[in-house]
Amino acid sequence: MPIVTSTEMFKKAYEGGYAIGAFNVNNMEIVQGITEAAKEVNSPLILQVSAGARKYAKHVYLMKLIEAAVEDTNLPICVHLDHGDSFEICKSCIDGGFTSVMIDGSKYSFEENIELTKKVVDYAHARGVVVEGELGKLAGIEDDVNVSEEDAQFTNPAEVEEFVTRTGVDSLAIAIGTSHGAFKFKGEPRLRFDILEEVSKRLPNFPIVLHGASSVIPKYVEMINANGGNMPGAQGVPEDMLRKAASMAVCKINIDSDLRLAMTGSIREYFNQNPAHFDPRQYLSPARANIKELVKHKIVNVLGSDNKI
Ligand code: G3H
Ligand code: 13P
Ligand code: ZN
Repeated sequence: MPIVTSTEMFKKAYEGGYAIGAFNVNNMEIVQGITEAAKEVNSPLILQVSAGARKYAKHVYLMKLIEAAVEDTNLPICVHLDHGDSFEICKSCIDGGFTSVMIDGSKYSFEENIELTKKVVDYAHARGVVVEGELGKLAGIEDDVNVSEEDAQFTNPAEVEEFVTRTGVDSLAIAIGTSHGAFKFKGEPRLRFDILEEVSKRLPNFPIVLHGASSVIPKYVEMINANGGNMPGAQGVPEDMLRKAASMAVCKINIDSDLRLAMTGSIREYFNQNPAHFDPRQYLSPARANIKELVKHKIVNVLGSDNKI
């Protein structure tokens, strides 16, 4: 099984009312934990790489790790650039074997976003690679953002048809209230499902992407806090909201922070219990096992992508 694009995955996910997990990777243990979990529950996968991850591990190492995971598991895996912010980084990933790229032009004006995104789409499509665009800005966590400013950041459904038609993107990330990291909501978690509904009416059968979708699972935050960490107020997207989004037009759900928390919680706990150990294999084994457990839980209980190959 070669590395695949997300086209077929999204088509089936849309029709089946489930979502594909897009998990961020930056080292071997994370790649193995995720792919071993997906193998056990027979799920397709997107492994995504940020610019920071690419800088940390190098493109070639990540590509080879993912190729090894494909060979080892025989799963359909799509390799995706997360938050590409320029034509150059998208081109470099396409030339280097990725099957999907995100061009995140959300910080630009509508017209500039279209122009940049279309340039990436033209290059990618000519090489069989798919493209995710973004409209709207993910919520910030700054205290001084007031409600009307916050509203202005959400995706405007009136813009989506023009954006998709003029750029030719294959999927669209929208802002409905999620944010990146482990501190997502100041009070009660709230997502604008009305915007998602309106977007999907205007873009029938079109895959929507949800960024900032970690649940910040309390078990792992508690593990961190119980072992010398300090993360008061950490809060993520409730799992029932993710299940609802997956049953609607959301076909790709991005998860990074939950992996970080599971890995870090495990390593903190290990050192607390074994202060004299210093062999990385000893503390990375339970960390990898925790990632595997987390990803299985996500696939089976949240995304619904198990047994969909
Ligand atoms: O959306 C951002 C991802 O969590 C990647 O984060 O840029 O720190 O690798 P990073
Ligand atoms: P989280 O920080 O919620 O895991 O979001 C990850 C993400 O959106 C990667 O693009
Ligand atoms: Zn993101």
